[in-house]
Amino acid sequence: MKQHQLPKDFLWGGAVAAHQVEGGWDQGGKGISIADVLTGGRHGVDRVITDGIIDGYLYPNHQAVDFYSHYKQDIALFAEMGFKCFRTSIAWSRIFPKGDELQPNEAGLQFYDDMFDELLKYNIQPVITLSHFEMPWHLVTEYGGWKNRKVVDFFIRYSEVVMRRYQHKVKYWMTFNEINNQRNYKTPLFGYCCSGVIFNQEENPEQAMYQVLHHQFVASAAVVKLGHAINPEFQIGCMIACVPLYPYSCNPDDVMYAQEAMHERFLFSDVHMRGYYPSYILREWERKGFDIVMEPQDAQTLRDGCADYIGLSYYMSNAVQANAKGTGSALSGFEGSVPNPYVKTSEWGWQIDPVGLRYSLNILYERYQKPLFIVENGFGAIDKPDASGKINDDYRIAYMQAHIEQMKKAMTYDGVEVMGYTPWGCIDCVSFTTGQYSKRYGFIYVDKHDDNSGTMKRSKKASFDWFRKVIASNGETL
Ligand code: BG6
Repeated sequence: MKQHQLPKDFLWGGAVAAHQVEGGWDQGGKGISIADVLTGGRHGVDRVITDGIIDGYLYPNHQAVDFYSHYKQDIALFAEMGFKCFRTSIAWSRIFPKGDELQPNEAGLQFYDDMFDELLKYNIQPVITLSHFEMPWHLVTEYGGWKNRKVVDFFIRYSEVVMRRYQHKVKYWMTFNEINNQRNYKTPLFGYCCSGVIFNQEENPEQAMYQVLHHQFVASAAVVKLGHAINPEFQIGCMIACVPLYPYSCNPDDVMYAQEAMHERFLFSDVHMRGYYPSYILREWERKGFDIVMEPQDAQTLRDGCADYIGLSYYMSNAVQANAKGTGSALSGFEGSVPNPYVKTSEWGWQIDPVGLRYSLNILYERYQKPLFIVENGFGAIDKPDASGKINDDYRIAYMQAHIEQMKKAMTYDGVEVMGYTPWGCIDCVSFTTGQYSKRYGFIYVDKHDDNSGTMKRSKKASFDWFRKVIASNGETL
């Protein structure tokens, strides 16, 4: 690789998650997942977590954009853009509809076999997340979600089944999507989607969150070890939402506060990449009197299952101020978050900060010296067709241009190892935080709307052609 160029095998592609695109929520023997009991919301109006599927509510993930039936057409469009990889997840409830069965559902396994074959036909590598906000709902109602240690075994069983089945089709895996979202345990949606637990209903929400995390860290490590035994070529990553927290000012109190706040981010990558709990968290548990139940073999399991790379999403940075403690922001999950006057925000209040991507890549690489994979980045916006029906999403192009520019700097100037870049929602899909269709990220527009109307017709936005050229030039033409 020449100093200023990206490696030839750089993985350009796009990312989605099963529950946000597939639809077919009750087809092919699929069971109800936690995403199936989430209603639609909008900015400022929370999605409701209903107790089962209740008449009168709109559940956007039930249909999503019907990738379940359109995958061949959609993958052909990804191929036209020149994708080298495609990140999606496997819906656990397609494989084990309730989660605690002993035998998997063949129809679910076949769906992913067919979909992966379609990708491979175009030389597009599947990049697969094992758990992306869609555990079987039964595991929540019967077992209490990831609070229950038994779920570790159910997850390992599910992971073993899919890793064995697809061992010759899938090389890149990730365990838990944005596992750190649930650190924001005061926001019900984040805990629920990560682990099926609504933490503020627990007697000690923060302790419950760490207990759940311990179960997931152990499960993740066990699956990394197992995966490597199934196929030593597997690359198995963790996946974290990387929202770096800047000190609001050079006041030493702000600087110290930001460093402490970053522990809430680093905890997740530290355990996954180093295989043990860092001292700052052990001290915190001691201070708070938390008793996290661990089994004697867990420490060894964590050590034996360090992840191969860090998959990260990057959308924004946040700033924190020591004397603003307690003000909080639902998005950053960290008390003390304050608006950063140097950056603009999207319509949903997400702070747009391309330099923060270079910063994030550097802090993670300096900390672990392990490859990084940008598996989500992008701009959620309301797209309006022009008179000819075309979406001229120059705002999205501008966002991605600026972020790719910073990624390239991190790679070519700073020497950070980045495996690939898969922008989020490469085809329009259901928003995770709001359940809207109208918060769009795609290069491909899908005619589907918040009131559930729409034809599902696919069309190319201006960004489609732009990204095709980016990939064709391996990032030279932005
Ligand atoms: C990440 C998730 O949080 O960001 C995705 O991994 C999600 O599932 C994406 O869709 C964008 O968030 P949103 O709320 O705009 O869809």
